Amino acid sequence: MKKKILKLLIKKDNNNRFHYPLHENALSKDDLAEGFKVLQSRQLTMSKKTKQFEEYFKKKLKLNYCMMVNSGSSANLLALFALINPKKKNRLNQGDECLVPSICWSTSLWPVVQAGLKPKLIDVDINTFTINLDTIKKNVTKKTKAIVIINVLGNTSNIDEIKKFANKKKIYLIEDNCESLGSKYKNKYLGSFGDFSSFSFYYSHQVTSGEGGMIACKTKDDYLLLKTLRAHGWDRDIQKERVNKKFNFINSGFNLRPLEISAAIGLNQFKRLSKMMSIRNYNRNKIINFIKKSKNWHKQFSFFYPHKNLKPSWFGLPILLDTKYIKKKEKFLNYLNKNKVETRPIISGNFVNQPAIKLYNISYNLKKLQNSKQIDKRGFFIGLPTTKLSDIVAKKLAELLLKVSKI
Ligand SMILES: Cc1ncc(COP(=O)(O)O)c(C=O)c1O
Repeated sequence: MKKKILKLLIKKDNNNRFHYPLHENALSKDDLAEGFKVLQSRQLTMSKKTKQFEEYFKKKLKLNYCMMVNSGSSANLLALFALINPKKKNRLNQGDECLVPSICWSTSLWPVVQAGLKPKLIDVDINTFTINLDTIKKNVTKKTKAIVIINVLGNTSNIDEIKKFANKKKIYLIEDNCESLGSKYKNKYLGSFGDFSSFSFYYSHQVTSGEGGMIACKTKDDYLLLKTLRAHGWDRDIQKERVNKKFNFINSGFNLRPLEISAAIGLNQFKRLSKMMSIRNYNRNKIINFIKKSKNWHKQFSFFYPHKNLKPSWFGLPILLDTKYIKKKEKFLNYLNKNKVETRPIISGNFVNQPAIKLYNISYNLKKLQNSKQIDKRGFFIGLPTTKLSDIVAKKLAELLLKVSKI
């Protein structure tokens, strides 16, 4: 068994060297078999498997309503376009303000802009990398009508209090949970707090179907609206509004439908989520233990610990270098890369540094984004595989990471 795992994890290149990839392929033979069944059935377009996945997902995460789409980005897009739709009661208007964390993914932010709202980029907490209630309170104005909260890499902030605050102020909460499927806050799954919540099944995430996503919402009206927006604005599936006419379009829309094969693979893999979560947690603890018991450990960096009320579902291990290594970060990451340890920024770093921010003339106040700056300058993450790490691999990895003080 151990040999098999080692073979999987220490992929040897031509020079026979160790390799610690950012993401390993988590698709099992069973997942693929489910995909093949769909191919054999020739039913490639969204159908029964998609419905089955939606039902199972909704039940498991105790969501009110949920609907599958072709990516997490599409789920975010639908959430924002539902909020501005003429069918939506108390809909948002052009220019309304929406708070967005500056440590964010591209498609957590752009749907806000695409929907004609005004994003206000705000700072995140240095411990959880997410926005917290204090920062929200400091930034909310009368113009604030929505908040995008991102649960970063399995972690969150005091999301129950954020939800209460948003309800009280009649502000919509969009919970981008694309990185945190399976995490529970006070025994409630993340992704069940927002008025709209998004999930991603992209290759590297907790559950993958290659590409795919899910959107959850709280009310039947919103659910029906999402269904029309997912498929061209068509009335198909919307009994309430169906007229005795084919090709009846009752709204604007997109085509964001998932493929049936993604649903089949996603559903099968989702059933293994808790097993994969516990292996990732085991690997995380193992790496941290090897680091902390090494004679070379001098607190060169800190880890990202779950919020006190959280039972996390990880997919990476974020690391924050001590401030004295800021200048060395690039050299150190190159060193890791040369030694076959793949790394990447925390989400995409401080998003205000991305060229697209200038292109769209998005305003921000750099002075108020100090934690985001720190996370950008000091942070990176490595992957956590869904097969158990051997001692040899975990130790080798720990020693390479500890080299930051020697470079
Ligand atoms: C926070 C966050 N939101 C949204 C997405 C988009 O998900 P997808 O890749 O499925 O479009 C990602 C993707 O990595 C993400 O990290």
